[in-house]
Amino acid sequence: MSIQIAIDGPAGAGKSTIAKILAKEKNFIYLDTGAMYRGFGLYAIRKGVSFEGWDETNADERLGGILDDFTMNIEYRDGSQHVVVNGEDVTDMIRTPEVSLAASKVAVVPAVRLKLVELQRKIAADNNVVMDGRDIGSYVLPGATVKIFLTASAEARAQRRYIELQEKGQTDVTYEEVLEDMKFRDKNDSSRKFAPLTCAEDAIKVDTTECTLEESINRIKEVVESKLC
Ligand code: CDP
Repeated sequence: MSIQIAIDGPAGAGKSTIAKILAKEKNFIYLDTGAMYRGFGLYAIRKGVSFEGWDETNADERLGGILDDFTMNIEYRDGSQHVVVNGEDVTDMIRTPEVSLAASKVAVVPAVRLKLVELQRKIAADNNVVMDGRDIGSYVLPGATVKIFLTASAEARAQRRYIELQEKGQTDVTYEEVLEDMKFRDKNDSSRKFAPLTCAEDAIKVDTTECTLEESINRIKEVVESKLC
C-alpha cells in the first residue's frame, strides 16, 4: 500500500512549495492537482467557453461536450511534473491569472472533477505521493496516511503570490488584484456543492500567516514524521 500525504488549503498558503520540498526529501512523487484543473481551464478557454455570468447552475451547459474529447496525462521529467492535454505539454501556459480564474470556474463541475480525480487516485495508488489541492484529504484520498490543512490570512497569501508573479515577470498585476482574485477563488472553492475546499475532520491545521517558509516547512515535517513512525 502506498504512502499518501495530502496537503490542502486555499491559494497562496504555500502548499506547492512545501509539498515539492517534502516529496524530494522523501523521494515521493509530487502531484499538483491544481495544475490539472488549470490544464482543463486552459483547454476550455481555447475551446471558446464563455465564463461571463458562469455559475453552478449553467456551468455544465456552458462546457457543452468539450469534456468528451479531453484527455490528460501527467508525466515526470527531470523530477518535475508536466501536464499534457490532448498530447500537448501545457505546463508553461497554465500559470496566468486568466487560467487561474478559469480553473476555479471549471472546478465546480462534478463531471470535470470526477475525470481528474480518477487520474489522481490512480497515481496515488501506484506511487508514494505528496498531493496538494483543495479536496485531497476530504474527498480524493480519504484514507491518506497524513492529512494537512495549510492556511494563512488572505492578505499574507496575496502578498506571497504577488511577489511570486513579480519575480516571474508578470508585472502588470497589482497586489489589490491578486487579493481580489484570491478572495473570489476562496469563496468559489469553499462554496461549491461537490468536493469543496474544506479541512478534513482528521487533518492537522497549520496556519502560516506569521511563519517564514522555513518555519512552515519544519512544522509540516514534524507533523509528517509523527504520523509516519
Ligand atoms: O496555486 P493556486 O493555489 O493559486 O491554485 P491551484 O492549486 O493551482 O488551483 C487552481 C484552481 O483549481 C483553484 O482555485 C481551485 O478552484 C481548483 N482546484 C480544485 O478545485 N481542487 C483541487 N484539488 C485543486 C485545485
